[in-house]
Amino acid sequence: MCGIVGALLNRGQVLAGMIEGLRVLEYRGYDSSGVALAGSDGLAIAKCAGRLEALECHLEASPAPPARAGIGHTRWATHGPATDRNAHPHKDGTGRLALVHNGIIENYLELRAELAEQGHEFLSETDSEVCAHLIGRELELGGTLVEAVARALKLVRGYYAIAVLYAGDEPELVCARQGPPLCVGLARDGTWIGSDVLALIPHTRDVIYLEDGDLAELSTSGVVVRDATGALVERELQRVDWDVNDASKGSYAHHMQKEIHEQADVLARTAFHRLDEEHGDVRFDESGWSDAELSGVSRIKIVACGTAWHAGLVARYMIEGLARIPVEVEYASEFRYRQPLCEPGTLAVAISQSGETADTLAALRLAADLGARTACICNVAGSTMVREVQSHILTQAGPEIGVASTKAFVAQVVVAYMLAVRLGRAQGVIDAEQGRRLVRDLRLLRPGLERLLSDEMVQKIQAISQRHKGVKGFLFLGRGVNFPIALEGALKLKEISYMHAEGYAAGEMKHGPIAMIEAWMTSVVITGHGAMAEKVRSNIEQIRARGGPVIAVGADQASLNLADEAIEVPASSVWLSPILNVIPLQMLSYEIARMRGCDIDKPRNLAKSVTVE
Ligand code: AGP
Repeated sequence: MCGIVGALLNRGQVLAGMIEGLRVLEYRGYDSSGVALAGSDGLAIAKCAGRLEALECHLEASPAPPARAGIGHTRWATHGPATDRNAHPHKDGTGRLALVHNGIIENYLELRAELAEQGHEFLSETDSEVCAHLIGRELELGGTLVEAVARALKLVRGYYAIAVLYAGDEPELVCARQGPPLCVGLARDGTWIGSDVLALIPHTRDVIYLEDGDLAELSTSGVVVRDATGALVERELQRVDWDVNDASKGSYAHHMQKEIHEQADVLARTAFHRLDEEHGDVRFDESGWSDAELSGVSRIKIVACGTAWHAGLVARYMIEGLARIPVEVEYASEFRYRQPLCEPGTLAVAISQSGETADTLAALRLAADLGARTACICNVAGSTMVREVQSHILTQAGPEIGVASTKAFVAQVVVAYMLAVRLGRAQGVIDAEQGRRLVRDLRLLRPGLERLLSDEMVQKIQAISQRHKGVKGFLFLGRGVNFPIALEGALKLKEISYMHAEGYAAGEMKHGPIAMIEAWMTSVVITGHGAMAEKVRSNIEQIRARGGPVIAVGADQASLNLADEAIEVPASSVWLSPILNVIPLQMLSYEIARMRGCDIDKPRNLAKSVTVE
């Protein structure tokens, strides 16, 4: 969704820092961008359709006035196409107030009609501009800016993170959140706001995460926060330990390429400090779980979206297979509206890289209302999800900037494996000896992962990508714990190369998808383990018999020998094979998208964190 940055400084100029922040946030939404500055000559606004560099070119041609206060925005369009007029910031009728917004004002049409009746003129097609006029109207009625914002937001239905800049005698900056995240950074040069801590780190690591309903009034030396009731509240000042270099591309061509190649380190960072070989167990210290609590878990319900949902499907195989606890995996967007039930003893686990996905948050809250205990597997320590659940497990993947999730997915699957071990040990289904074996297998996985990231493997996948980049479409097939990896491989290819790709359970092929097989439909088949291997070999034979090209990925040599293209994956336990098998699929998607000239880190129509429905 959209990126928001802003500041009220006690010294220096605000523009450069805001542009730097928008550059970091551009992965959140990138169809237009803009800034508003409150200087001695009042409000100045510059905004452009297109990527951030369009705004930078505009500012180079028409320099902005000096200012110590400003707000900025990168947009992922919800209402109205990506045009200059629809870009944020939006002004009110007085021209002294500017607003940027992330979210959706659901009742904007009725508010817009009411305001138009009162003489307000709108320049854009957006819902956000209505909010600017609403606040402007309330301000005209009297009181302070923060009071006007509070009154206006009471009329709004929907989700928002907003920043409001007023160019009065002294500039004023007020922000508010209901849904999409917003945080405040206390720096030496003033007070900053951002929709993501990554935008604040260049200025400060001391951050306050606003809660839903909060209204924050910035000053050059701090912030005053009121909660939804209007009462003054103290929000905890937290120290952010992310390294801003983690969010840079380094020497790689794309964030996604870097993040693929970080995965051996991510495995180590996420798992190794939690493995207890001596007792054949796993420690999730931050979760606060006791053996007693975990032994009372009779059912697990996983809610997630997209790639995180695929990680949930892998988790189901692992937890049911190793800990013998029934697991249901739900699309969060379906669960939240399905009028579901939660039996006593249910542990609801949300899986989310960002911890801000609107559907997943809503599903989690519903599960809590239905009596489930709640937990999340999440990559962002300060996210809404982590702050709302009863227990959390962090995937230490570091900031994931590429819109197509890679290292966060692998970290989620690693955590799922460890959770299966922990649950199995707490419930006495896995004994210490088996636990030691499972823990050791994970610790020994790194060399195999590193081999998959080698230059030799990259060259091999580049050659295969060259031969298949122009086919009509792809069918990704897998069985058992690798069926979700087939789904994930298809999603990766779809979202960054825009090619048609479908993931299927290999056993389902004969029930329809086999009709798609032809010379121009490439099948990517993930080989199996044990008895499954033989079944997958049959699938490959059936495809080849119909002239369909096959790319086989896995450790089963007999399957690899049957295929047109073979990508060998180091042998591992069946439970860990998804972590290895997904790597070549990520690389295949990356190379094909690169050869097709796609914008890999910012694919069209997508955003990194879907904070609205
Ligand atoms: C993954 O490549 C996609 N970008 C998308 O499906 C993503 O996994 C989904 O939106 C969930 O996001 P989350 O993990 O931040 O909740």
